[in-house]
Amino acid sequence: MEKAVLLVRDDRVAVLTINRPTKLNALNNEVRNLTLQYLREIENDDSIGVVVVTGAGEKAFVAGADIQEFEGRSPFDQREALRFPRLYDIMANFPKPVIAMINGFCLGGGCELSMSCDIRIASDRAKMGQPEINLGLIPGGGGSQRLPRLVGLGRAMKMILTGDMIGAEEAARIGLVDEVVPHEELREKTLAMAKKIASKSPLTVRVAKEAMRASERMPIEEGILYERDLFCLCFSTEDKKEGVEAFLGKRRAEWKGR
Ligand code: COA
Repeated sequence: MEKAVLLVRDDRVAVLTINRPTKLNALNNEVRNLTLQYLREIENDDSIGVVVVTGAGEKAFVAGADIQEFEGRSPFDQREALRFPRLYDIMANFPKPVIAMINGFCLGGGCELSMSCDIRIASDRAKMGQPEINLGLIPGGGGSQRLPRLVGLGRAMKMILTGDMIGAEEAARIGLVDEVVPHEELREKTLAMAKKIASKSPLTVRVAKEAMRASERMPIEEGILYERDLFCLCFSTEDKKEGVEAFLGKRRAEWKGR
């Protein structure tokens, strides 16, 4: 039987494909556990610089948490299922950039998964939404917190309280996705961006992500001081020396990741 998540390497990029196309790639425990297992492997693998997350098939990125798993669960069962560390938070804080390649329905936990990624690239066929209200639920994967931060409170209220889906262009207009591309070009464009990021100094990319993620939890004054310290920390790396010397010597930098 095929695995519920597939890992394929392409140069320095790891593509994780959630592979339950007949269930529109709904997130069940198997998907969560396998994804966490792959992320642990990728974290310790210096040959991988960037992770891309996508869904199998033509129809869906992820159509939400697996609703079947909700049936008959007690609040305590559900709390156990949502125990830390959560996939969403692990992706947001993952030491390498994670790009969501949104190839279709991106709903509920799928939308939350994409919001935990660092960059979202959507096919022009993608549909985004937080439809939990229609199940008598609210978002449980960070959606009530991440969506307002990305799109503003009013737009988040509109999406979460109506449960309506929006198309890719609308999602880009409000800042929920960062780029919309023709469906047929989604993979090529996403991998090109992922490879470009993976060609930079992995150490510097890591510090840059850490600095930007800090902006979600720090007041601006503290965040600016934190950035200053991280910026100065870069002065200790071989890659900073190489980058500056290469620029001044009018040659291409060769990153060491040190
Ligand atoms: N959990 C479990 N199964 C799901 C699912 C989910 N979140 N989303 C889709 N599926 C399953 C369907 O039950 C169906 O399974 P079946 O063929 O065994 O009956 C299969 O995936 C295909 O979905 P279907 O509803 O037939 O496709 P569609 O094109 O008619 O509709 C959607 C697509 C996305 C509009 C619809 O599937 C949907 O509303 N899904 C739930 C979205 C949601 O509420 N997500 C938040 C969960 S918290």
